[in-house]
Amino acid sequence: MAGVADRAMREVCREHGAAYAVGELASAKGISLHDKKSAAYLEVNDSERPYGSQLFGCEPDIMAEAAKMAEAQGPDFIDINMGCPAPKVAVSSGGGSALMKDPDLAARIVEAVVKVVKVPVTVKMRAGWDDTLKNAVELARLVESAGAAAITVHGRTRVQMYAPPVDIDIIRRVKQAVKVPVIANGDVDSPKAAAKMYEETGCDFVMVGRGAMGQPWIFSQINAYLEHEVILPDPPLEKKMLTLIDQVNRMEQYKGTKIAMMEARKHVAWYMKGLNGAAELRRMAGCIRSQDDIIEIVKKAMELNKV
Ligand SMILES: Cc1cc2nc3c(=O)[nH]c(=O)nc-3n(C[C@H](O)[C@H](O)[C@H](O)COP(=O)(O)O)c2cc1C
Repeated sequence: MAGVADRAMREVCREHGAAYAVGELASAKGISLHDKKSAAYLEVNDSERPYGSQLFGCEPDIMAEAAKMAEAQGPDFIDINMGCPAPKVAVSSGGGSALMKDPDLAARIVEAVVKVVKVPVTVKMRAGWDDTLKNAVELARLVESAGAAAITVHGRTRVQMYAPPVDIDIIRRVKQAVKVPVIANGDVDSPKAAAKMYEETGCDFVMVGRGAMGQPWIFSQINAYLEHEVILPDPPLEKKMLTLIDQVNRMEQYKGTKIAMMEARKHVAWYMKGLNGAAELRRMAGCIRSQDDIIEIVKKAMELNKV
């Protein structure tokens, strides 16, 4: 998730049971023009394997060139974004979910990328563009024929953005239509939601997005439920706060204090969700400038939530 699932969050999620994570989406055009910010998204760390770098764009030759440059950094696979609804990605640049409107171009992109890299190439798509164009099944067939090794389907249209409902049926139909693994995505935010997604779609894996924000332990809870039908309680508050501090420490190590502290504000706010005094804690999070400020918030959270 762009602006959310940075290296620190991905590592913490992996350590809490996520099978793999994909990097924040990177512009193929930016990469081909040697833009430093885009290239930084392609950095691969051994701590994250198996790891996928994600690219967006709409020109097959530029996507292929960027994929080769991405591959040189050593990811385990390359994921092509056909789901991002953001205007900057899907409208001005014609990539992300805009590719759902042009399945032939989408397939040509996959073909071009598959041709030039050795690692598997996967695709992340939505249910369709809008209610009149719900073409995930057609697109999935095309990208599979073009060489995609796995397909993630977020069961919403671009027009829906992130609003309910998630179209479970279209994910099920994609699973029936292709032979490659299908990863089901959309509102998998609890162990029971994960089990329901598996049952109703027959998918091979489920993908968690926003459900991991401020609660990376969701992955171990989902795994425990799927493997043993056990509902694990949330960790005690002290443990949650230690996980938060660990995540922010990593952010500071990887991005430097200034950027890390700015970005920590939203992560801290997510970790405070549902706690007594959450509104006050979130307000405090909005002013974070240093690790000391985070410790103050953690102390306050502990004080307001004593049992
Ligand atoms: C802030 C934000 C950033 C996202 N960035 C990406 C991205 O870079 N690449 C991607 O494939 N999906 C991205 N997504 C979409 C999620 O991966 C996921 O498909 C979507 O949120 C639905 O899953 P959920 O209901 O579990 O959140 C993003 C979502 C959000 C909310």
